Amino acid sequence: MAHQWRGVLREYADRLDISDATPIITLGEGGTPLIPAPALSARTGANVWVKYEGMNPTGSFKDRGMTMAVSKAVEHGAKAVICASTGNTSAAAAAYASHAGIKAAVLVPEGKIAMGKLAQAIAHNAELLQIRGNFDDCLEIARDLAAHYPVHLVNSVNNDRIEGQKTAAFEVVEVLGDAPDIHIVPIGNAGNYTAYSRGYGESLARGDSTKHPRMFGFQAEGSAPIVHGKIVRNPETIASAIRIGNPASWALALTARELTNGYFGAISDTHILEAYRILSAEVGIFVEPASAISVAGLLERAAAGQIPKGSTVVLTVTGHGLKDPQWALKTADGSTITPTVVENNTDEVAGVLGLAKVSV
Ligand code: F0G
Repeated sequence: MAHQWRGVLREYADRLDISDATPIITLGEGGTPLIPAPALSARTGANVWVKYEGMNPTGSFKDRGMTMAVSKAVEHGAKAVICASTGNTSAAAAAYASHAGIKAAVLVPEGKIAMGKLAQAIAHNAELLQIRGNFDDCLEIARDLAAHYPVHLVNSVNNDRIEGQKTAAFEVVEVLGDAPDIHIVPIGNAGNYTAYSRGYGESLARGDSTKHPRMFGFQAEGSAPIVHGKIVRNPETIASAIRIGNPASWALALTARELTNGYFGAISDTHILEAYRILSAEVGIFVEPASAISVAGLLERAAAGQIPKGSTVVLTVTGHGLKDPQWALKTADGSTITPTVVENNTDEVAGVLGLAKVSV
């Protein structure tokens, strides 16, 4: 019988704080493909791999942390979970809570989350409230609610989330046979940056790898508090998933950067969208704009001469392109692409495609 991947809690039970008393709330998350990216290797001279986290059950890396956070919440008797979100966390919280048979309440910034993610939270029966504020405002309310009302917080300030997410680093080490030289992730709250760093640290301590990769993290230029060293009151970027001005795991990320000789950089929306297009058109991987910042970061660092030739680089692309597909239909000047309409006739279609008939 074919072996089915059992989700990160079962696959990595020995490296997570779970016991027989922990109900395993899983949708089969993790075990995502690590895909070689020849087009990016050719552009940079490095050996580039893409960890495609859009292949998780709700289409983002958040599922790794949510299986852990909701399982532990249920173990502790929670009947409801709450989170603030730019969209993906709310989709994951809603899905895992519905699977567990408990309630999820999610707070999102009004009008600022992608349609696919909004639809997911509602499809999975969450109580979704749009707050007249940004993500940082939502998180403050969520923390307040969790402190004073019977709801369990499942944002990444909850360490169970980081613990679940560290499993992605274990998978990379297993596939490559060692840690990469450099690992690049997008940064919003900096939870995932922290989680990979922890996962690689544990792999090294176990003797599964011989080194800790340098951790590179990228924020969008209009939303880059860690890069600039100060809170951004009104963060702006088309990469709505990482539109965050006061990251919850800021301090942890600074420690992780120290530990790994890492790097934080900022990328313009224009470069994010260029990288988004390169990844979909040249590598065949469709992601949401926030995820493409890993690619943009790689290209920016390579142009700066900071990616050694022949080094192994892993890019995490965090969320699926189908969550926020509108950007694929935009041209560089911002107009929307409308596919050509053709008469129901082979010769007409061949003409439009520029095909010349072959004689037989
Ligand atoms: N990429 C995507 C697609 C995300 O949704 C997020 C965060 C990140 C990257 C950044 O990860 O916060 O761990 O640094 N999304 C959160 C959410 C904030 O609510 O879905 P991080």
